[in-house]
Amino acid sequence: MNAIILLGPPGAGKGTLAESLRDETDFIHVSTGDMLRAAIKAGSPIGPGAKVFMEKGELVPDPVILGIIKERIAQAAGDARFMFDGFPRTLEQAKLFDQLLTEIGGTLLKVVNMSVPDDMLIRRLSGRRICKACGAVYHMVNIPPKTEGICDNDGAELYQRPDDNEETVRNRLSVYKNQTAPLISYYREQDLILDVDASMTPGSTYAFTLEALNG
Ligand code: AP5
Repeated sequence: MNAIILLGPPGAGKGTLAESLRDETDFIHVSTGDMLRAAIKAGSPIGPGAKVFMEKGELVPDPVILGIIKERIAQAAGDARFMFDGFPRTLEQAKLFDQLLTEIGGTLLKVVNMSVPDDMLIRRLSGRRICKACGAVYHMVNIPPKTEGICDNDGAELYQRPDDNEETVRNRLSVYKNQTAPLISYYREQDLILDVDASMTPGSTYAFTLEALNG
């Protein structure tokens, strides 16, 4: 198994970049945030516990996250290539992931470090809207749908994520700085970091990243 990691604060555009990369490469997109939201919706046993942390913008405990990651990897072929979005998010998760890679003979190819100024992150998150049916992600100003509040793909209604309110967003940014940003040094020491200025347009961010990953 080979993998890349998309590392960046809330609203950096990890999900948006992952969607474009997925369309043009063979990477399987694995978003722990999406998996947790799906678990809550499906009424899975981990759902209620995870929901409490997510609503506050806190991190879901490491053992729960490692459990869903192991389960997802086990479902794929041995030579699958994964693109992790939002995982790992703590040093403990990163170390356990290293152990897992060693156990299964996997290789971490690159860690894409997406940086965006805080004021831009807040604007991106407060304007984000998501399709209730297909999950397509829009932004009211940057990437608006053709008709306000309606998905271009299927005509379904768009909604705002409950953790995209201003108070929770500020907590998510602070959690990122305290618990996730230390991973940048961790992976830089392993010479795995690819720095990306993710304040560019979605198209430019994608083109730069794809070229750097291929180069
Ligand atoms: P998660 O769902 O992973 O949220 P996040 O990391 O906070 O990231 P977001 O999904 O908010 O942002 P994004 O970077 O994907 O940006 P997007 O592309 O949507 O996690 C949610 C919660 O789950 C966590 O708080 C935690 O509780 C829990 N969790 C998840 N993983 C965990 C883990 N490993 N450990 C513990 N807990 C975990 O873009 C944002 C907006 O900007 C959109 O509107 C988009 O259209 C727009 N946009 C994107 N790119 C651009 C661009 N280049 N220019 C202009 N606008 C853009």
